[in-house]
Amino acid sequence: MSNEHATLSFSDSGKQVELPVYKGSIGPSVVDIRKLYKDTDHFTFDPGFLSTASCESKITYIDGEKGVLLYRGYPIEQLAQHSSHLEVCYLLLYGELPTKDEFDQFQRSITMHTMVHEGLKNFYNGFRRDAHPMAIMVGVVGALSAFYHDSLDIHNPEHREVSAHRLIAKMPTIAAWSYKFAQGQPFLYPDNRLGYVENFLRLMFGVPAQDYEVNPVVAKALERLFILHADHEQNASTSTVRLAGSSGANPFACISAGIGTLWGPAHGGANEAVLKMLAEIGSVGNIENCIRRSENPDDPFRLMGFGHRVYKNYDPRAKIIRESCHDVLNALGVDDPMLEVALRLEEKALKEDYFISRKLYPNVDFYSGIILKAIGIPINMFTVMFALGRTVGWIAHWMEMIKEPNTPIGRPRQLYTGPTPRDYVPVARRKG
Ligand code: SDX
Repeated sequence: MSNEHATLSFSDSGKQVELPVYKGSIGPSVVDIRKLYKDTDHFTFDPGFLSTASCESKITYIDGEKGVLLYRGYPIEQLAQHSSHLEVCYLLLYGELPTKDEFDQFQRSITMHTMVHEGLKNFYNGFRRDAHPMAIMVGVVGALSAFYHDSLDIHNPEHREVSAHRLIAKMPTIAAWSYKFAQGQPFLYPDNRLGYVENFLRLMFGVPAQDYEVNPVVAKALERLFILHADHEQNASTSTVRLAGSSGANPFACISAGIGTLWGPAHGGANEAVLKMLAEIGSVGNIENCIRRSENPDDPFRLMGFGHRVYKNYDPRAKIIRESCHDVLNALGVDDPMLEVALRLEEKALKEDYFISRKLYPNVDFYSGIILKAIGIPINMFTVMFALGRTVGWIAHWMEMIKEPNTPIGRPRQLYTGPTPRDYVPVARRKG
């Protein structure tokens, strides 16, 4: 940490405090305000944390102005082009790309954890058939805490590692079963001869009555989507996982909390909302009206899949997914008019001063649904796909935080503007 500092002075009391400033390896420096309250009896005020660094991390770096995303220093474009989801999982968890032996050992461990406790199947029957799969994911993933008592000591590195591998390995099984339950089809068991993505596709679309043949185009497209969704520094769901973890909660409960946060349409739920918006627009001719509505402050309509707290340039993931759309749809012989609507909507929006002045660009969710739909994933499973990809990011951040000695429990303060102290009034004397 450097010996630079910032000086804060208060106009009312004239008091001054010096606050240490730390530089990262890249990106904005930070002002350390940990002693501010003790030294000045003041809090900082930053709803939504627009200017707040909640932690130090070595996992992912985003440059919002330049549209840069690095996983452990590797550009997302290179990982999407050359890597696999499991290799990216290893990179995010352990910090380096694996050697062949390291990867083989990791892949074997994940493969051997893809089955879930047989008792977990009973949870599905407690849901309505039309339950949203994210509701099932929140419940079933949280319930894993009830089955894996052998690995819940968060201060034991071996328990942390086996929990991480279990979560990465079991999420596809749990997710696919949430789809099968809705379909009224029997659950398949994982097949250890298949790779991570292929195994998931078979669990999703395979049936006991016949062998399932994985379409390599579909597998490659889903592999790339999982890589692109794997991590994104301190986004809302990852911050939830860190906050939950800071209380000492077990990793399964923390990931379940992350899934719940991701579900929101302002976050991971946007991919499902984008497809519904594109369907509502219906045709290129209706785009103008949609843009007008999204610019109207009195209309709650938002251009879903547009805008980002950090990216004030094109989301690099959106660029990769948009390029993949054509390849995947052509390879599958799918002609989806929604792609044309999306492309024209982007083209028109990016010419609007409203979007230009606010630096609103397509984000990861704008095009991902086009590919998910083309490979046969039902729309209410889109956010589950996001959760599948992001599980490793949540776990990597949880592990990074828990490994730190003396991690403080997260406990923000507030600016209180409620009633000042007053005495209780018996009901007979209260005025209507
Ligand atoms: C993800 O954080 C992450 O990293 C998330 C994520 C990840 O990988 O984890 O990248 C994944 O969540 C992507 C975002 C998916 N959400 C959407 O696509 C929903 C639509 N987008 C908006 O809800 C919004 O852009 C957010 C929530 C994504 C970001 O909101 P901010 O940063 O809090 O910005 P804001 O809401 O304050 O908007 C600034 C201005 C406002 O206008 P003014 O008050 O200045 O007049 O831009 C406007 C907003 O009204 N605006 C939009 C808009 N997004 C912002 N107007 C119309 N359509 C939009 N989509």
